[in-house]
Amino acid sequence: MKSTIFFLNLLFLCFVSACFAQTKAVISSPNQAIVLKVGAAQSGNVSYQISYKNKTIIEPSLLGFALKKPEITLNKFEVVGIDSTAVDETWKPVLGEVSTIRNNYKQLTVRLIDKNNAKNTLNIIFRVFDDGVGFRYDFPQQTAIKHFIVKDELTQFNLAGNHKTFWMPGDYDTNEYLYNTTKLSEIDATKAAKKETDIALQAVIGPNTVQTPLMMKTADGIYLNIHEAALVNYPAMHLTLDKATFTFTTHLTPDAVGNKAYLQAPFQTPWRTIVVSDKATEILSSKLILNLNEPSKIADVSWIKPQKFIGMWWEMHVGKSNWYKEGNKHGANTANVKTYIDYAAKHGFDGVLVEGWNEGWEDWFGNWKENVFDFITPYSDYDINELTAYAKVKGVKIIMHHETSGSATNYERRFDKAFQFMQDHEMNTVKTGYVGRIIPRGEHHDSQWMVNHYQRVAEKAAEYKIMVEAHEPVHPTGLHRTYPNWLANEAARGNEFNNAPNLGLVPEHETILPFTRLMGGPMDYTPGFFCFQLNQYDATRKTRVKTTLAKQLALYVTMYSPLQMAGDFPENFDKHLDAFQFIKDVPVDWSDTKVLEAEPGDYVTIVRKQKGEENWFLGAITDENARKSTVKLDFLTENTSYKATVYQDAAAADWKTNPEAYVIEQKIVTNKDTLNLQLANGGGCAISFIKL
Ligand code: NOJ
Ligand code: CA
Repeated sequence: MKSTIFFLNLLFLCFVSACFAQTKAVISSPNQAIVLKVGAAQSGNVSYQISYKNKTIIEPSLLGFALKKPEITLNKFEVVGIDSTAVDETWKPVLGEVSTIRNNYKQLTVRLIDKNNAKNTLNIIFRVFDDGVGFRYDFPQQTAIKHFIVKDELTQFNLAGNHKTFWMPGDYDTNEYLYNTTKLSEIDATKAAKKETDIALQAVIGPNTVQTPLMMKTADGIYLNIHEAALVNYPAMHLTLDKATFTFTTHLTPDAVGNKAYLQAPFQTPWRTIVVSDKATEILSSKLILNLNEPSKIADVSWIKPQKFIGMWWEMHVGKSNWYKEGNKHGANTANVKTYIDYAAKHGFDGVLVEGWNEGWEDWFGNWKENVFDFITPYSDYDINELTAYAKVKGVKIIMHHETSGSATNYERRFDKAFQFMQDHEMNTVKTGYVGRIIPRGEHHDSQWMVNHYQRVAEKAAEYKIMVEAHEPVHPTGLHRTYPNWLANEAARGNEFNNAPNLGLVPEHETILPFTRLMGGPMDYTPGFFCFQLNQYDATRKTRVKTTLAKQLALYVTMYSPLQMAGDFPENFDKHLDAFQFIKDVPVDWSDTKVLEAEPGDYVTIVRKQKGEENWFLGAITDENARKSTVKLDFLTENTSYKATVYQDAAAADWKTNPEAYVIEQKIVTNKDTLNLQLANGGGCAISFIKL
């Protein structure tokens, strides 16, 4: 039900001439906990401020723009009108963590004219939800600001204290960093990035610039998350901190010549989002970012399916075989891929990702060539017709891989043919990739042009009924609601980084990701590594996986994605078939989700209900510290028995010394029971509850 009601009675205009900014409007969340005020000063400065449960969380923060063409600064305004509406509706995501989402907010539109030239107009639209605030700029159709170039967006987030912050360095090209946890005053992005010497494209913006989603916790226990929603036709936002006032200002990603965005009015920017709660668990269950995205643009979604897959992939990463065809180590040869198809069929996986199937891998990295891949020419030892027929008989889909090596223009010139080629070979899912510099123009991964590119790929793929997941893209902002075929993205340091020399992961990483990267949407994290020392095929390798085996299982629940890979390869799964059973059983699409406990950087425990079934699945993870947890099973249906299979770290387990020690226990439980979980250092616990 959608209701739009005017509630001018709730909105009061006050003109208190004594204060530096007159309060022009006040609006509160449906539950009254969040209050947003818009102020305008004599000078023409327009600001907003936000409180949560009577505590200020955003102090007066300025709004505005600097344009390059026409050369205008839009930061002195007159407020010429204020409108308000409210919405309370529900909608159903095609795939998701829950089957129904409530979209309940109050909206304020503040209509401004430029104090210096009344012809220039700008609106700001605020939406206040129970779980936070979103606001965006709206450039209406007008005479002077018509086709315009943005020099800078001047939005501020003026924080009320020196908060504990989970941050990574601002960088226009990669979000594959570890997170740093410091006070705001201690942020030093340049120093943090220097430790990460192997990130090829490292272009740190400056010591005080960080990426979003940015997670913070105040001294009195309020959790705050700043990000953006519906990033469309606009560059990604980073944030630059003024340490004297704890004020962040937006820092948009420039294009190859330094401009930020080329726009045409009417235009609406992405939403700037602030998710807030005094419970960390509520940050993780917030649907604010999804609610601020447009509904699906794809009318017939019947072909969009959640999926689990294995892949001709990790064996290349650990040096068992190669992407390129040289010598006798080419991984993607017909016979080898058949063994993967057999394994997927035997264990009930939907797909097999095949990387290194196409010509070009001899010369794909580091040479910045524009036409390395054509996306339709298989290597001579990869018989695509034979494999298409073989996969069909086995009821398995081959998942396509389009590594663009950063040559996004080449990909756009060829993607029609590439998607047609996929259709001809009965493939319906593609993993794309953008390793390296974006060529030929030297765009950034986060620039307006690339933001549009990722979207064009999702739209073009939808024309061919193809599902997409992108590696090395811009940070996600909830667009999987609008393009439900865009199943997942990487866009953060994934499990595969366990194999990166000098970099790797840390045990707390997966307890931070849900509060940061995952706020924007599902991640292809590729859990499911069962072999922990990565020198199996290359004795010189010192890399290793920094979790226990039980934690690798728990990640299927704590790291939401409708597309999940079982990352390791068959030979390693075969050593732990009893634990592999959890990966076989765990669904990837859910009707309900409850975040039972969470603290960024420390632990996360989530239960989810399988869509269309009565079964529940639990994932609990911890950082480097062992942890005991008591879980009440009151989420289960009353008067119903379930078979619980508990996959738990053994008493002697430890990510460092004994990662493979796990125990599997079965018991019959009801919603009156509690379970005591014991997580090792760097450990986890996974449980399936199957209704009897
Ligand atoms: C980086 C991706 O993240 C990884 O999954 C892939 O195997 C390589 N690029 C090669 O495309
Ligand atoms: Ca910790």
